[in-house]
Amino acid sequence: MQYPFSVRKKGRETPPFLLRAAPDEGSGTRAIDHAASPVPSPLPLSRGERGSKLMRPNLLQSLAARVAERERAGLMRRARTVDATRGVRVTIGGHELLNFCSNDYLGLAQDARIVKALQHAADKCGVGSSAAHLVCGHRREHTRLEEALCEWTGRDAALLFSSGWLANLGVMQALLDRDGACVQDKWNHASLLDAAQLAGAMLKRYPHNDVDGAARQLEGTEGKPALLATDGVFSMDGDVAPLRELANVCRREGATLMVDDAHGLGVLGTHGAGSINDAGLSETDTPVLTATLGKALGCSGAFVAGSHALIEGLTQFARTFVYTTAMPPALAAAAHEAVRIARAEDWRRGKLLALITRFRNGAAQLGLPLADSRTAIQPIVLGGAGPAVAASRTLEAEGVLVTAIRPPTVPHGKARLRVALSAAHEEADVDRLLDALARLPR
Ligand SMILES: Cc1ncc(COP(=O)(O)O)c(C=O)c1O
Repeated sequence: MQYPFSVRKKGRETPPFLLRAAPDEGSGTRAIDHAASPVPSPLPLSRGERGSKLMRPNLLQSLAARVAERERAGLMRRARTVDATRGVRVTIGGHELLNFCSNDYLGLAQDARIVKALQHAADKCGVGSSAAHLVCGHRREHTRLEEALCEWTGRDAALLFSSGWLANLGVMQALLDRDGACVQDKWNHASLLDAAQLAGAMLKRYPHNDVDGAARQLEGTEGKPALLATDGVFSMDGDVAPLRELANVCRREGATLMVDDAHGLGVLGTHGAGSINDAGLSETDTPVLTATLGKALGCSGAFVAGSHALIEGLTQFARTFVYTTAMPPALAAAAHEAVRIARAEDWRRGKLLALITRFRNGAAQLGLPLADSRTAIQPIVLGGAGPAVAASRTLEAEGVLVTAIRPPTVPHGKARLRVALSAAHEEADVDRLLDALARLPR
């Protein structure tokens, strides 16, 4: 969930994983505690080993140096252990906090019906799927979930992946190679940006939501097969991509449009069918749809949906589908139940929208810098990492959890409180957040 930084410099590429690190702030990879676990010094070398071939940088020491640099910059990331969750309330370190940083937009992550579906399927099929889909890991629960996802998103076929990250990588590796070009919004999720590079394609980025910029980048790759990839809803800003305009550009330029709807599925569109549906577009306009099951659906895993030909191609060539264990069938059964509820219970979207409006009105009255977002993601951009962390700590002391999002997840000078609302919140919860925000020192 990061913004890209310059990743292609005059013929020399810096691998993106050297530029970015974790996914969601706070839920990222567990950071190394530099002080607690120093990197051991190497064993003494024998005389024969003291040759020039050993005069190379030590990888672990280089990594530790980068960690130390991050620590000096005050940008260390730490996973915090949540001891208990009760709806939108979480207990951390013995303190109960009102949570405004989860992606459980519809309030389904703890829904009793979904938990029951998971338990029931686990009783029947056990825990692990025991093999990749193409070996013997594909169960009836997977097929049913794929069918439900097709029906919901109005697509011919779907394929399950273990995570959104892997779905994006699988698509790009199947569709692109060194001869291909991938044109992307600069604010796309890290998984899209990294996937294009890992596929070996030429990556061209355009300024955020700049349709003319996207067109120019495509024109610059004339003659090459091209994929234009965009988030449907941008993960750190909550704004929606101009999908209709991008679809027109793709049609004109003969490029294929891919939409990652991680934050739109369940939230936007008729019965939550997502941002493509919300934009009135079809499978022909946006041939590739990816989305995670880990946000509005409250589960885990992901899928790609599109034509039979796309899904057949991915089944053959998406390495992150072929060479990995299928998601647990009980999880597929749980996600199936989550899809049923997300589609049927429109009141959840209605309630979420009312809470978004309440929050935006209240924040505007407080003079807070609101982003141009009509979705559950409502960032308050504060500028420096220091003020964002200080604001987050002050809110926490008042019993409200809103993680500070800092560089490199967002650009320097754009650190923020990423407020995420959920249908599981009540009006009183939003008012409590607003009260706490009002008391922040300015
Ligand atoms: C836009 C976007 N795409 C993909 C992902 C990755 O999804 P997952 O968490 O299922 O790997 C995320 C999640 O952080 C996201 O925000």
